[in-house]
Amino acid sequence: MTFLRVIVFSTVLLGFYALFAHTLPQVEPDLSEPVEVSTDGLDMEGMIALGESLFTGKGTCTLCHNGMGRAPDMLEMDLAATFPSRLADPKYTGVSAGKSGPEAIEAYIRESMQHPSAYVVAGFGKKGTNDTESPMPVVDKAPIELSNVEMNAVIAFLQDRAGLEPTVPLPSADEAPVAETPSAEGMVEAPVTDALAAIDKYNCAACHNLKGSGADLGPELGGIANRMSRAEVMEAILDPNATIAEGFSAGLMPQDFSEEMHTSELLLIVDYLLALPEAAPKEEVDEEEPLATSGLEVIDKFGCAGCHDLDDSGADVGPRLQGIAKRMSREELQTAITDPNASIAEGFEPDLMPDDFGDTIADSEMTLLLDYLMNLPE
Ligand code: HEC
Ligand code: HEC
Ligand code: HEC
Repeated sequence: MTFLRVIVFSTVLLGFYALFAHTLPQVEPDLSEPVEVSTDGLDMEGMIALGESLFTGKGTCTLCHNGMGRAPDMLEMDLAATFPSRLADPKYTGVSAGKSGPEAIEAYIRESMQHPSAYVVAGFGKKGTNDTESPMPVVDKAPIELSNVEMNAVIAFLQDRAGLEPTVPLPSADEAPVAETPSAEGMVEAPVTDALAAIDKYNCAACHNLKGSGADLGPELGGIANRMSRAEVMEAILDPNATIAEGFSAGLMPQDFSEEMHTSELLLIVDYLLALPEAAPKEEVDEEEPLATSGLEVIDKFGCAGCHDLDDSGADVGPRLQGIAKRMSREELQTAITDPNASIAEGFEPDLMPDDFGDTIADSEMTLLLDYLMNLPE
């Protein structure tokens, strides 16, 4: 029933113009203005459907929340189990800490969108912040800018996926309608006519530090003219996997700009990027975290206890480390930390434990860490 309703709703309201542009090419609607979707009279199933279209569309959530491992894959994972376990996590101190039930989960999702760093899922924090800072952009600010009604719709969608009755309010008749830029399949959107609008349209600033977004999922593009030719910049946009920027993973930058982008937009973006001044060097002082001076500090700095039970915290993403000296030599322990996928502890998944500790843990810190773990009692 919900599914049918989703199809009907999205076809009728969101895909209306697409359908027309598709089947009746003589009726050419003006697509340069966003289409206003009235939220007047929307019921909860409509909210859920709207939330789904925002999640994959305007909200750009699936740019990161996908199977690439950059963010929890919310469309695949078991949300019914995940959300309650987040609220129960002793590391979570946000608005719903210690609470349970659908309202608490509503508040948790809203907080995730407005204050992403209130809780950072272990292993997903910004590099070097020990999972204290989330790379996720605030979604009710530019460039994503979801309205309250739109955030409620996304929450309704996620609550529904978690098997809950959505608890968000329905939009009232006088609430501002939702502006939805049509982007249904099969339709070509009218090109935008300035570079910043094009960068917004394709959400480059969600991953690159553009327009002051501070994002660092993709390389800094300031001063790019000094290291890439015009042709190379174009190729990097149209065929991102042809060459991969050092230190970044393949497959993350969207592959379909070549199909979606108008040539005029590409030229605007490329001109804009090539004119960007060299980015101000980051403050080195902030970058260098001080070296930890005890085993416990190392564990704290690198977030081991978020996944491992070290002090009866109950964390169970990775094996308990109490009494590890009975199971492993010091050398084996070091390898398990620096090259976690070399052998996988029985009953646990590979690829969960960060694999860059060999680079990020200083030698002096490694010694302290091994001393500490080898002496951890059963
Ligand atoms: C630029 C990448 C990026 C975008 C875009 C993004 N997120 Fe996230 N999100 C993350 C990362 C990384 C995490 C995990 C770290 C954390 O907990 O903050 C996360 C965590 C979350 C969580 C907590 C998940 C959990 O397992 O507890 C929710 C809820 C969430 N995001 C919702 C959204 C929604 C809704 C959107 C779109 C409106 C969105 N995100 C867009 C990167 C992103
Ligand atoms: C979901 C994240 C994401 C989005 C959205 C994104 N990029 Fe990227 N981009 C990356 C990543 C990661 C890399 C590095 C890997 C690679 O080279 O493919 C990259 C690489 C690049 C490079 C090459 C930089 C270099 O130093 O080699 C350019 C240029 C670029 N992106 C421009 C853009 C533009 C323009 C847009 C918007 C039209 C955009 N990107 C949207 C993630 C993203
Ligand atoms: C994001 C979760 C996560 C973090 C953070 C993490 N680990 Fe792990 N760890 C795992 C998982 C999952 C396994 C089991 C799979 C494997 O063997 O790679 C594991 C395995 C291990 C093992 C092997 C244990 C055995 O019984 O074979 C050791 C030792 C270990 N981790 C130590 C550490 C230390 C020390 C830190 C911090 C510097 C750390 N881990 C951080 C998830 C994590």
